[in-house]
Amino acid sequence: MLAVAVLAAGKGTRMKSDLPKVLQPLAGATLVERVLASCRHLAPERQLLIVGHQAERVERSLEALGGLEFVLQQPQNGTGHAVQQLLAPLAGFQGELLVLNGDVPLLRPGTLEELLAKHRNSGAAVTLLTARLADPTGYGRVFADEQGRVSGIVEHRDCSEEQRRNTLTNAGIYCFDWAKLAAVLPLLSTDNDQGELYLTDTVAMLNPAVHLEVSDPDEINGINDRLQLAQCEAVLQERLRRHWMAEGVSFTDPASCTLSEGTRFGRDVLVEPQCHFRGATQIGNGCRIGPGCLIENSSLADGVEVLYSVLRESTVATDCVVGPYAQLRNGAHLEAGCRIGNFVEVKNSRLGAGVKANHLSYLGDADLGAKVNVGAGTITANFDGVHKHRTVIGAGSKTGANSVLVAPITLGAEVTVAAGSTLTQNVPDGALAFGRARQVVKERRQTSSPAS
Ligand code: UD1
Ligand code: CA
Repeated sequence: MLAVAVLAAGKGTRMKSDLPKVLQPLAGATLVERVLASCRHLAPERQLLIVGHQAERVERSLEALGGLEFVLQQPQNGTGHAVQQLLAPLAGFQGELLVLNGDVPLLRPGTLEELLAKHRNSGAAVTLLTARLADPTGYGRVFADEQGRVSGIVEHRDCSEEQRRNTLTNAGIYCFDWAKLAAVLPLLSTDNDQGELYLTDTVAMLNPAVHLEVSDPDEINGINDRLQLAQCEAVLQERLRRHWMAEGVSFTDPASCTLSEGTRFGRDVLVEPQCHFRGATQIGNGCRIGPGCLIENSSLADGVEVLYSVLRESTVATDCVVGPYAQLRNGAHLEAGCRIGNFVEVKNSRLGAGVKANHLSYLGDADLGAKVNVGAGTITANFDGVHKHRTVIGAGSKTGANSVLVAPITLGAEVTVAAGSTLTQNVPDGALAFGRARQVVKERRQTSSPAS
């Protein structure tokens, strides 16, 4: 039987934030979500989350996940004190307890598998994860012999000068035999620089204690401040970009682009500099994105081109061209071959195949049939001050430059709207609609004779 406990009760003082540390976001997911995700594939029987500082907020953020047992630690008197809170909920539990620090988010899933396997094969009372860090400042140091037997862990601030030279670092990730840990947890003392109960002190009380050293030190990066948060973000971004390059995506300037875990690319996509992909975003085969795009929770089919534009919560079918300087948002849906040009905003609208809106338009709450040509400056006036209304434009219609369509309004198919019109009434199929004052031209009478 396997139980997992994530330590997530601390305040994270060094972040200087109103947000609990474990809720800080990293490449689109919070630290605690990432830590939970790193052990999900182990299918633990129990998942316990130790919460304390802003406990309700942390619990609420994880509501959707399900299957979590929240254990309250109040006050927060150290990592050992945190794990002591499990004595009641895990009373009588037989098996391993995997303890994960809630602020160590870069673990690879395979690493925890390896840790568990090593623990089971060695029959140790505890197996902990370590790495050799070039600069282990702030981390606990692990003292182990050549056979890998661990005699103890000393926190950085409690180390002597000589002990600090040891670069074998505690990751804050442990696999315990729960019954053995439970027996020593009550023996912890606060005899250290911080006056807290340290989980790390249990290691010297457990026998045998062994460790698994990971080769990539980035995996055990802990996050205590904003600098470490940014460093972890950089590591994650690099991993994501490398992954997608290996899958056939080209980046002309990879370091200038950011991705989310939920981004998916097809083959032969070209990503130009300064492009950012967020949320659940899907980019089809052969798309060309950028430079200068933000694409969030959107789905692009094959062969789409986007240039200097923002797309959110939108879907774009094959071979559309978007931008430069366009915005699609909140349920914009483009069918195949649309062309959305500069300074055009599309919101909560469906555009049929081959629609062209090339310049300076707002299409909000609108349904456009195939091949509608939206003249420069066409606006759907969708808001009457209280409610939003829809505009419907039939297939093949053309709106002249500077048309205002006051919704609710329906234009039939093959309608032509004269430039400069403000329309408030429906227009039947095939009609030509004017809604503007007639031009008046008056000859001017000569009022004075030219100077001589
Ligand atoms: C801890 C380890 C250190 C290790 C490092 C790895 C101890 C004493 N030290 O140090 O050896 O190298 O992690 O990153 O364990 N927490 C609680 N309740 C508390 C205190 C903390 O739940 O009362 C949680 C925090 O929310 C955090 C985790 O435990 O997620 C680690 O706490 P933190 O204070 O960051 O420990 P470190 O000083 O980094
Ligand atoms: Ca930490």
